[in-house]
Amino acid sequence: METDFLVIGSGIAGLTYSLKIAEKFPDKKVVIITKAESDETNTKYAQGGVAGVQDFSIDSFSKHIEDTLIAGDGLCNPEVVDIVVREGVQRINEIIEWGTRFDKDPSGDYMLGKEGGHSENRILHHKDITGKEIERALLQKIKSLPNIELITHCFVLDIITQHHLGYLVTKSTPDIKCYGVYILNTINNKIDKVISKITLMATGGNGQVYRSTTNPAIATGDGVAMAYRAKSRIENMEFIQFHPTALYEPGAKGQSFLITEAVRGDGAILRNEKGEAFMKRYDEREDLAPRDIVARAIDNEMKINGTEFVYLDCRQMNKEKFIEHFPNIYAKCLSVGIDVFKNMIPVSPAAHYSCGGIKTNIWGETSIKNLFAAGECASTGLHGANRLASNSLLEAMVFAHRSFICSAEIIDTLSLPTGIPDWNAEGTKAATEMILITQSIKELKQIMSDYVGIVRNNKRLSRASRRLDLLHEETERLYQHTEVSPALCELRNMITVAYLIVKSAEFRKESRGLHFNTDYPGKSSILQNTIL
Ligand code: FAD
Ligand code: SIN
Repeated sequence: METDFLVIGSGIAGLTYSLKIAEKFPDKKVVIITKAESDETNTKYAQGGVAGVQDFSIDSFSKHIEDTLIAGDGLCNPEVVDIVVREGVQRINEIIEWGTRFDKDPSGDYMLGKEGGHSENRILHHKDITGKEIERALLQKIKSLPNIELITHCFVLDIITQHHLGYLVTKSTPDIKCYGVYILNTINNKIDKVISKITLMATGGNGQVYRSTTNPAIATGDGVAMAYRAKSRIENMEFIQFHPTALYEPGAKGQSFLITEAVRGDGAILRNEKGEAFMKRYDEREDLAPRDIVARAIDNEMKINGTEFVYLDCRQMNKEKFIEHFPNIYAKCLSVGIDVFKNMIPVSPAAHYSCGGIKTNIWGETSIKNLFAAGECASTGLHGANRLASNSLLEAMVFAHRSFICSAEIIDTLSLPTGIPDWNAEGTKAATEMILITQSIKELKQIMSDYVGIVRNNKRLSRASRRLDLLHEETERLYQHTEVSPALCELRNMITVAYLIVKSAEFRKESRGLHFNTDYPGKSSILQNTIL
């Protein structure tokens, strides 16, 4: 297959980029590839909403900028923060024009929520299912553009560069170029190549690297792993954000159900076993302190009290308003026997968001030519050491737009590469034992959760590193002799991502934002990103 524009991922980043490109170039082809159903993305599960200054009588760009910089704990790129906060408002208006419905009050004004680290109410939302509404509207709009082809159930295996033409490609090769990707059609098991002039990586997050995560099964960090293999620059992977309040459901497998921070924004209070509203003891902003602080406080309370969860108390909240704003949470809690007006909700932190990723410049360009990155898989400089709540949907839209502007400028200077070889499956056989893969995935999650969680130290990191080495060695051996499958490739990608998280954590000899190492509890005076 050949295309002008190739987009990997059908979340907010991939879809908004594709819509813009397809409208601007009706005669050019846009191919979107996604490994599951079209809407099975992190985007679909977003609850709280999109942060953006709306009420200029109270709020301002400078307040949103300040809040983002404070949350980022010294590592945000101020130029990028300024860009995202200011341009984000136009991007929000675009998705509204494309059909996204955000909640309004009876007088027609947007109802603005508040989350941790925000000094004002500025979160636009659609009840507590904002992401589902955004995906719906964007996928609907995609259907109106005939030059977009959306291919589902197709797993992108690797980025094609000069390496596949037989050249030696290293991190210091000056002009690495992206020629497209190899894909595995998971319906008929055929491997193909997609040759493209421009490729956008929009593969989302990597929460699945941990045992407990709010992310769906697709979030295995494939884009970051592929970009790393292709020798792209990867940045700040140690900054994994743990959401403070995932519903604690013992025995439940897979994705943890999120209790949005907006619930605390509307007045819910965290309590420990003894019923104490403990956040007072940790931060003057109490329950609405930035996420790194709240998650660490919960972790500490759980350790002190020997519990696996703390409680979120919503009993004092207005019933009618709660059900109106959070119908999905209300129903989910009821389904597991929790009436939020009578019982407190057991919650614990879960891996939620990757602040680092594929390093880009302010136009979404990566260190590989003709390869752009946007959304959660990218590291643009916005989040620094800790993302401010509800800033990621915003960032994804702003950087999808900037990637679109830059792509539009260069597309006519590019031609399709020729001579790209087919995928080489020589010497591989069908897998005989899935257990080798599934067990390794379990081990990986265990290692990362036990040694590379909210609180780290040098011993735990080096243990994790040694265990990952073994998993890596075994998996590479398996990969050399086994026909590729999504499970095998995801395992391989997750090992790469875990390695990047651990290596970056080992390089950071301080505690900052989401990275807390008890061997270096203070902050270093030198501000630097971790680039691998
Ligand atoms: P995604 O939406 O995750 O899309 C990734 C796409 O890439 C998918 O289509 C996937 O199939 C595809 N893909 C991945 N690997 C491959 C591969 N190998 N081959 C082919 N396709 C592939 N942020 C906010 O700002 N506000 C919120 O309220 C909010 N709430 C959240 C709640 C939850 C429960 C979660 C999990 C996240 C939340 N976030 C929120 C974060 C935010 O949703 C994500 O960061 C954002 O949606 C990521 O968008 P994306 O387009 O980068 O990737
Ligand atoms: C939430 O709704 O609490 C999640 C918001 C986010 O991750 O930005």
